[in-house]
Amino acid sequence: MKLLHFTDIHLTTPGETIGGRDPNVNFDKALAHALKDHSDAELLVITGDLSDWGDRDDYVRLRARLDQLELPVALCIGNHDDRDTFLSVFPEYEGADGFVQNARDTSAGRCLLLDTWGPETHAGHFCERRLRWLDCQLAEHDGPFLIFMHHNPIPTHIGPVDEIKLLDDVPFRKLIGRHASKIRHIFFGHCHLPLAGSTAGVPTTSLRGTNHAGFSVFSEPKMLCASDLPEAYGVAFIKPDHITIHMVEYGYNGAVRAEGSPDYANWNRASMQR
Ligand SMILES: [Fe+2]
Ligand SMILES: [Fe+2]
Repeated sequence: MKLLHFTDIHLTTPGETIGGRDPNVNFDKALAHALKDHSDAELLVITGDLSDWGDRDDYVRLRARLDQLELPVALCIGNHDDRDTFLSVFPEYEGADGFVQNARDTSAGRCLLLDTWGPETHAGHFCERRLRWLDCQLAEHDGPFLIFMHHNPIPTHIGPVDEIKLLDDVPFRKLIGRHASKIRHIFFGHCHLPLAGSTAGVPTTSLRGTNHAGFSVFSEPKMLCASDLPEAYGVAFIKPDHITIHMVEYGYNGAVRAEGSPDYANWNRASMQR
């Protein structure tokens, strides 16, 4: 299965920019770029921060845009979203206990879309009720599972970024550890950074968002750091015996050269172009 992973699209009132970039324009550009190469993707998952300020109009425009796609889409909410406002436009996403938590089957397994949202905070939350729901989901099906969530389930070890990580990450990882053999991968967003690691033994990745970019500054004690690195989206190839995930920097405007043959016989110091 091929899956597209978009995150942190941060849609704004048309014309409003973030970091000098227009999130609406960039979301459209990312979609066009991704669908040009990957119209055969089975699913697009957007892991939260759908709207920058949780405005209803952003969700209405998002819904209209997604309705135009032939590609099935699954959504998570992030800290910039507003759960009630989101659900007023996307009522079908209301899951157990009123959370935006859902399961969706694909040819590569069952996707679990988690809700790590908490009121009046940028940090992530995963309370007892959400832990119980996830535990039941993982127990009642043989898997394999793919998990999608907004907040980072592992610390980045960058102080200000980790102040707003999933605060309940220890019980979350304990639960994941109990079911790790059935879970193939955890996809997350929030940090606006390309990250790879593991959560209680389960491989885990994140990527830069489709609009503004972070930078790993380990010496900054207080503030979150932004950069002008290219906008990006992810493409995951999920096969029975491997998973490969690319972060495609579609916002890169420099040259891309076709050079250097993979044929070893052409590796000639005098004649090859590099
Ligand atoms: Fe974000
Ligand atoms: Fe976020």
